[in-house]
Amino acid sequence: MSLEEKLNRLEKMRAEAKLGGGQKRIDKQHAKGKLTARERIELLVDPNSFEEFDMFVTHRSSDFGLAKQRILGDGVVTGCGEINGRQVFIFSQDFTVFGGSLSEAHAEKICKIMDMAMKVGAPVIGLNDSGGARIQEGVVSLGGYADIFLRNTLASGVVPQISVILGPCAGGAVYSPAITDFTLMVKGSSYMFVTGPNVVKTVTHEVVTSEELGGAMVHSSQSGVSHFACENEADAISKLKHLLRYIPQNNLEDPPFVDNNDSLKREDEELNSIVPENPNQPYDIKDVIKRVVDKGSFFEVHEEFAQNIVVGFAHLGGRSIGIIANQPAVLAGVLDINSSIKGARFIRFCDAFNIPLLTFEDVPGFLPGVDQEHGGIIKNGAKLLYAYCEATVPKVTIITRKAYGGAYDVMNSKHVRGDMNYAWPTAEIAVMGPKGAVEIIFKKDIADAQDPEAELKKLTDDYREKFANPYIAASRGYVDDIIEPKTTRPRLIRAFGMLETKKDTNPPKKHGNIPL
Ligand code: HXC
Repeated sequence: MSLEEKLNRLEKMRAEAKLGGGQKRIDKQHAKGKLTARERIELLVDPNSFEEFDMFVTHRSSDFGLAKQRILGDGVVTGCGEINGRQVFIFSQDFTVFGGSLSEAHAEKICKIMDMAMKVGAPVIGLNDSGGARIQEGVVSLGGYADIFLRNTLASGVVPQISVILGPCAGGAVYSPAITDFTLMVKGSSYMFVTGPNVVKTVTHEVVTSEELGGAMVHSSQSGVSHFACENEADAISKLKHLLRYIPQNNLEDPPFVDNNDSLKREDEELNSIVPENPNQPYDIKDVIKRVVDKGSFFEVHEEFAQNIVVGFAHLGGRSIGIIANQPAVLAGVLDINSSIKGARFIRFCDAFNIPLLTFEDVPGFLPGVDQEHGGIIKNGAKLLYAYCEATVPKVTIITRKAYGGAYDVMNSKHVRGDMNYAWPTAEIAVMGPKGAVEIIFKKDIADAQDPEAELKKLTDDYREKFANPYIAASRGYVDDIIEPKTTRPRLIRAFGMLETKKDTNPPKKHGNIPL
């Protein structure tokens, strides 16, 4: 065979591989409003930057007529490419080939790029669209999943791992995305569940659709499994690219510097009046965040879930930071089970990947209630506390208003290694809110008073005057300074600049035992 003939053969095989399960199935995929595995990669990476691996891999099964159905690539496109000039490793499941189901060979391809990503220190992006284990292959397919789960776990905290769910993701298959750092789902076309609607109906007699059981909104707002509910595939890919702007390639590197020329000295007069005089009146902490960080740089994560805490990335003077903020506009910013878990997971991601933490604190305490206690607010609240205690990246706190009780300790207090802790003059740092405190300490005096209402008000006002301010904490050095709100941005930029070379460590150990 001449070289020309050999090259022709290669081209023919490449064309065959690119057609996956065939034009008919590609058309079916498009008719569902979905892109193919390769189209998704094209949308994701810089033009001409993708290098595909293992295009000629096929499965090795022969049961159930599989010997006659060997499709080049075996249902997953894998390789490396660049996003905004930075290297990433990608696998993209091809639903047109056996429904994107995972065979032994398919799993080996995914494991190969994960191993490579670990060696070179680059993120792994999984574009999931799969009917789960390749049913005809049986246990070797299950083994393939386990090989991936192991790598997900070993790569956790070493390279960022991001999962995009663009179709079905069911059964044990859900546990790979669950171990990764961020999961994005598409409304109406993606779903995740351990057992689908039919099994649910048989076992519990509940009747639900796939979307109701495990769609993007359910997992973004209720279970917290998904971090982003996207409008369509293009939106998901655009969000994923944006997310990468804030995070480093691996745990030994710093995040990229992204400067947008917002002045480092910019003050914001509006911040001086953002906290209402009435301590029971809410305000939106996102207004504070957006006024402080580099203009337009706030990128919220987990927006729909546990909205009483806000987490997300931003740039401050071009440096990437992770923000955790109590949200007084939702449930008064109280800490509960879900907000503690949400905050803790975000903090641990940032700490693992050298992203400094900024905390905005306005928290009346932990949410009381039988549901919360029985649901384990003790162990779940402890996750947030543990995550703050353990984190060694630069940690700065701004107390805008309430810092009450245990929540004062938890929200990156000085005592849990907060590096620079500032309070606004509106801060109230105390064991509990004035009214609650007075009702306990002066229970008898109030009951015996001629006018108990008036007595309660007087004592509450006295208590507020005496304790509901930042000065007692400041006199102990528990806050480093009390700052005028409008100066928050320049003060934070200076603080994070000062902390840039911070080094702190935890005692050597195999690993800690976070209260799971
Ligand atoms: C082999 C599969 C497959 C699978 C789908 N296909 N799932 N082939 N193994 N798991 C094939 C179909 O035969 C079909 O082939 C093509 O993919 C498209 O499937 P359709 O059913 O026509 O598509 P659709 O109607 O969109 O339904 C998609 C689906 C459904 C909801 C995913 O196919 C389905 O329910 N599949 C089975 C899901 C499942 O039970 N998987 C095992 C889960 S257990 P043709 O040739 O007609 O195009 C599991 C364990 C993992 O995953 C454990 C890890 C620890």
